[in-house]
Amino acid sequence: MGYRAEYDSWKADPEGWWMQAAQAIDWVKAPTRALSQRGENLYEWFSDAEVNTCWNAVDRHVEAGRGDQTAIIYDSPITGAKSKTSYAELQTQVVSLAGALAARGVTMGDRVIIYMPMVPEALVAMLACARIGAIHSVVFGGFAANELAVRIDDCTPKAIIAASCGLEPGRTVEYKPLLDGAIDLADHTPDLCVILQRDACPCALGPRDVDWHAVQKDVTPADCVPVPGNHPAYILYTSGTTGAPKGVVRATAGHLVALNWTMKNIYQMNPGEVFWAASDVGWVVGHSYICYAPLIHGNTTIVFEGKPVGTPDAGTFWRVIEEHDVKSFFTAPTAIRAVKREDPKGEYRAKYDLSGLRALYLAGERADPDTIEWAQNILDVPVYDHWWQTETGYTIAGNPAGLEALPVKIGSPTVAMPGYDVQILDDAGHPVAPGELGAIAVKLPLPPGTLPTLWNAEDRFIKSYLHTFPGYYETGDAGMMDEDGYLYIMARTDDVINVAGHRLSTGAMEEVLAGHPDVAECAVVGVTDQLKGQSPVGLLCLTTGVNRAHDEIVAECVKRVRDQIGPVAAFKQAVVVDRLPKTRSGKILRGTVVKIADSEAFKMPATIDDPAILDEIKDALQTIGYAKG
Ligand code: COA
Ligand code: AMP
Repeated sequence: MGYRAEYDSWKADPEGWWMQAAQAIDWVKAPTRALSQRGENLYEWFSDAEVNTCWNAVDRHVEAGRGDQTAIIYDSPITGAKSKTSYAELQTQVVSLAGALAARGVTMGDRVIIYMPMVPEALVAMLACARIGAIHSVVFGGFAANELAVRIDDCTPKAIIAASCGLEPGRTVEYKPLLDGAIDLADHTPDLCVILQRDACPCALGPRDVDWHAVQKDVTPADCVPVPGNHPAYILYTSGTTGAPKGVVRATAGHLVALNWTMKNIYQMNPGEVFWAASDVGWVVGHSYICYAPLIHGNTTIVFEGKPVGTPDAGTFWRVIEEHDVKSFFTAPTAIRAVKREDPKGEYRAKYDLSGLRALYLAGERADPDTIEWAQNILDVPVYDHWWQTETGYTIAGNPAGLEALPVKIGSPTVAMPGYDVQILDDAGHPVAPGELGAIAVKLPLPPGTLPTLWNAEDRFIKSYLHTFPGYYETGDAGMMDEDGYLYIMARTDDVINVAGHRLSTGAMEEVLAGHPDVAECAVVGVTDQLKGQSPVGLLCLTTGVNRAHDEIVAECVKRVRDQIGPVAAFKQAVVVDRLPKTRSGKILRGTVVKIADSEAFKMPATIDDPAILDEIKDALQTIGYAKG
C-alpha cells in the first residue's frame, strides 16, 4: 500500500488500523480495544492491555535467537572510547540494575530521575525502570541545579540515577555538585542516588549515594513486570510559556505500537540494521530514537558522545556513518549547519564511503532550504524534513519513505502521518483554505504514543492544548497546507523559541532576569541566528535610581540565566532600554522586536502604545550587533 491508501485506511477505521499495528508488539495480555475515553476530549489507547516495554525492547530479541546482535554501539570521540553491547549483554545489565532498584524498594509507579550524559548506561537505566514499571524522567545534562530541582519537586522521585560527570568539548561538567545542589534546593528528597563513576571525573559519595556497580552486587535478577497499557512509561519535561516546565506523560502501550510502526514506514529500517539519531537522551528524540524505537524494532542504535564539529572535526558524522554502516541518520538542521559552516565544500565528507546510507532525516526546528540542498548535494541521498514535538513523541508530518517516498518539496516536512488529522485553523477555529496561514491543530483524538495528559497537571494540559480550539489539539505552531496536503511549519504561536534544536521558554528566562535586583521589567525574544536558528536576546529596563554600569548588569544577568537554567539556554546577549514596546493593553510586542532585530520590514502594530519607542529599541539593539538594516 502507498501512502494515500494507508492514510485513507487509517481514516476509515482508526481503531482497526491501530489494532493491526499493535500485532507487532508482544503483549502479556493483548488489548481487546484500541481507544477509550476517560473524560471530555481525554483519550487513552490500549488501556486494557498488559505489556512490558523492556521485554519488547530487549528480552524478546534474545528469546528470538538474536542475543548476539549488537543492540548499542557507543562511540565517544570526546573520550576516544568505543564499545558494542549485544542484546544478550544488554539484557544482563538491565536485569541487574532493575534488580538493584527493586531491592532498594523502587516498585511499579515510582518515579526515577535519570541525569546522565551520552553513555550506554543511560539507556540501561531507562530500560531498567521500564522493566519494573518505574516511571523515569530523564533530565538533560545541560540544565542547571535549579531546573533539576523543579523536576524533582514535580515528579517526586524515589531514586535518582546519575553519572559523576558529562563531557563537553574542553569542559568537564561535574554532575554531582549539580545533583546535590538540586536536592538541597528541592522540597522533596529521593531515598537514594545511584552514581555511575566516570574515569574522567569520579566524585565522592555521600550517605544517600550508592555506586552503580556496588548496588548491583548479589541482587536478585528482576523479571519484566506487566503494566497496564495506559501506565506512564516516562515523564519528559519540556518548555512551555511559563517558567514551570510541562511534564509530558508517555503511556506505555501506545508508545510501543506507534514507535515500532515508524521504524519501517518512516525510517526505512529493517531489523538488524544500524540506526543513528545524533541527539541526546535528555530530549524526546533521544527517548524515541536513541533508546526505544530502534530497540523495540530490533535495530542497533548508536550512543554518540560528541558534537557535529570539533570532536575532532567536521567529518565526525560521516566517519560514524561509514564505520558503523548506518542506514538511516537523524539529526537537527543546526548540526548540519555547523558542519556546513566548517566544511562548505564537503571535503571531509569525501573521505568516507557513505554508500550504505539511505537517507538523512531532519527535525527539531525548521529546516532551511540552503541546509537541505547542501546536505542533498554532498550526501547524494534524500533529505527528509519531518515535524514533531515532545508532546507527540514521533512524526506528525513527514515523508513515509519506507511506505512510499513522496516527492520532497523543500520547505515542507511533507504530509500528515496516519493517526494525525492535521488542520489549519483561523482564530475562530474554522479550517482555512489551502495556502492560507493559520494555527496548526490536530483533530482529537491524538494517536497512540502521544501525551494523554501532563504529570500532576491535567488542568494545565486542558488549558494549554485543548482549550483554544474545542475538539482539537493545539500544536503551538503556525503554518499552512498546500493543495497536495503538504504542510509548512512557519512559527510558534507562543513564547517558545528553538535554539540549536533545543526548545526553550523565553518566559522562563524572563522570570530569571526579573529576579535580578536591578531589573524592573524585561523581555526575552528569539532573534534569527545563522547557526542555531534562533538565539535569545534580553531587553532590560532597570529599576529607578539604579546607576551602575550597564555592562556589569548585563554580565550578571547572563550569568544568572546560565546558573539558574543552564548553559543550554545559550543566553549571552542583553541590552538595557528605557522602556519596552507594548500595546495599549500592556502586552509586550515581542514579534515586532524580533523583526527590528532581524532588520526585517514590519507593519506598525495598530495597538502600539507609543510608536516612538521602536526607534529607541532599534538603537539599543544596534549596540549589540542587531537591527543593522
Ligand atoms: N551538558 C552540559 N552542557 C551542555 C550540554 C550537556 N549535555 N549540551 C550543551 N551544553 C552547553 C554547551 O557546552 C554550551 O556551553 P558554552 O556556553 O559554555 O559554550 C551551551 O550548552 C550551548 O550549547 P549548544 O547550543 O549546543 O551550542 P554549542 O555552541 O555547544 O554547539 C552545535 C552548537 C550546533 C554544534 C550544537 O548545538 C549541536 O550539536 N546541536 C544539535 C542539537 C541537537 O541534536 N538537538 C536535539 C534535537 S534533535
Ligand atoms: P520539541 O518539543 O523540542 O521537539 O520542539 C517541538 C517544536 O520544534 C515544534 O513545535 C516546532 O516549533 C519545532 N519543530 C520541530 N520539528 C520541526 C520541523 N521539522 N520544522 C519546523 N519546526 C519544527
